[in-house]
Amino acid sequence: MICLYRLLLAISFGLLLGCDSDSQAARGFSLPKGNPGAGKLVYTQLQCNNCHSLPSVPQDTERVAGTPSVTLGGEVSSVQTYGQLVSSIINPSHRIAKGYPLAEVADNGQSRMRNYNEVMTVKELIDLVSYLQPQYQLRAYEHSRYRMYYP
Ligand code: HEC
Repeated sequence: MICLYRLLLAISFGLLLGCDSDSQAARGFSLPKGNPGAGKLVYTQLQCNNCHSLPSVPQDTERVAGTPSVTLGGEVSSVQTYGQLVSSIINPSHRIAKGYPLAEVADNGQSRMRNYNEVMTVKELIDLVSYLQPQYQLRAYEHSRYRMYYP
């Protein structure tokens, strides 16, 4: 009986561990160190700013009407890992950015982001991610404020 109990415990624990959250889906994936300066050049050369704004690079003002406008960088509530950034760039439909009207960012569930997989080199991707990642800051945890209590 004890054995069965242990077995059940082991199985449920195993299931718990086997339940990888999205942030762990990139386990075992490691990106070499990139050059953020070169990444900034890639960002403008590939015209990411047609559809995006960064704290340091505003969106193209001469954009055509109907072009999406998605903010990159800034404060986020969970860390933007390089795994997430790489996925957003080479497989944008994997997860559609939150907080925008769906029609602005997607068509039939597919991201409206341009596909760069035929034109971007791996080095460009690495540099781009090392340029973008430090521009995300983790939003500071808000402590509850308690008023002073005078008896
Ligand atoms: C034609 C417009 C367009 C261009 C050009 C474009 N993107 Fe995007 N991008 C989008 C849209 C729309 C989204 C939101 C939908 C999604 O999550 O895929 C997006 C999402 C992203 C996200 C995820 C944002 C989030 O909050 O989840 C990243 C990172 C990103 N793009 C990087 C880039 C980079 C780097 C380039 C240049 C190499 C680029 N994009 C070029 C349209 C574009």
